[in-house]
Amino acid sequence: MKNRVLAGMRPTGRLHLGNYLGSAKGMLALQDNPEFETLFTVVDIHATTTPYDPETLKASARDVFIDYLAIGLDPEKSAITIQSDLADLITQLSFYLSTVMTVARMQHLPTYKDKVVQHPDNVTMALLNYPMLMAADILIYKASKVPVGIDQEPHLEIAREVARKMNEQFGLDFPEPTRFATVGEYVPSLLGEGKMSKTVEGSSIELSDSLDTIIKKLKRSPTDSGQGDVVPTEGGVANLLKFVELFEGVESRKHYETLYTSSGIRYGDLKKQLADAIFAEIKPIQEKRAELEKNPEYIDKMIKFGAEKSRVIAGQTVLEVRKAMGLG
Ligand code: TRP
Repeated sequence: MKNRVLAGMRPTGRLHLGNYLGSAKGMLALQDNPEFETLFTVVDIHATTTPYDPETLKASARDVFIDYLAIGLDPEKSAITIQSDLADLITQLSFYLSTVMTVARMQHLPTYKDKVVQHPDNVTMALLNYPMLMAADILIYKASKVPVGIDQEPHLEIAREVARKMNEQFGLDFPEPTRFATVGEYVPSLLGEGKMSKTVEGSSIELSDSLDTIIKKLKRSPTDSGQGDVVPTEGGVANLLKFVELFEGVESRKHYETLYTSSGIRYGDLKKQLADAIFAEIKPIQEKRAELEKNPEYIDKMIKFGAEKSRVIAGQTVLEVRKAMGLG
């Protein structure tokens, strides 16, 4: 069997550069690699595990789907879905998987504990089950590779544990999925601290940003005098150099590093060039998106097509599990 790779994105608005580099761009390369079968999903059911707005969820999920197409994912080569289109199968599998995990194990997850602190009034069963739903997303396609950030490792650990237990107890053949690191796995914040995030104001560049907006955002990112004995490894300058590496290549980065320890970096020039390089990469995506938006019927058709394609695999897995558990 081919290596199946599944990427998932929560529908928290359109993609930013962090999502693009951290997951989507790496997947794009895999899409054309015959060794891999690529699947993408917009995980709208996950969005319901924390406070959310039902009025806008559907549109947000569709927005991410369109971004997937705009960055070059091909519905023919990959299976691209909105999770809730397979809600009957995925939530069903998630329930079956939850029969082999203890409450204590789930309560100890750092991701769960963080959410409890963030939303103390919403500590629901659904929240506790978040990793089980994610395990179902992955295992329903028997995906063995998942391109996610390091923060998701505890969730993958759960998915592996569940797979192992289901295999042991019911004689199934789930692979134990592992994390797949992509080149731009860690995309830093523009503010010099932490990672790029939609929820931190001023930290991210959106795929929809104009060149002007990118220039303005980069202007605000912190720098120093531009010169010193050692190139900083954290903070604003380190982050800018990381962006240079991601968008202009490792040679450009080395060039600036040499400048830093000799005649000095002029950040005005660095930022202008960087803005141009970033915009050059996202401009075709914006053009493709504008074109797609002119054709809503095509998008509807692709959403349906992805769901039908994935349903074949997902339905088969659920059948196998039901049979093995004495429910089929
Ligand atoms: N928990 C993931 C995140 O926050 C989102 C997600 C849900 C996911 N299901 C998935 C990612 C399946 C990859 C595969 O980023």
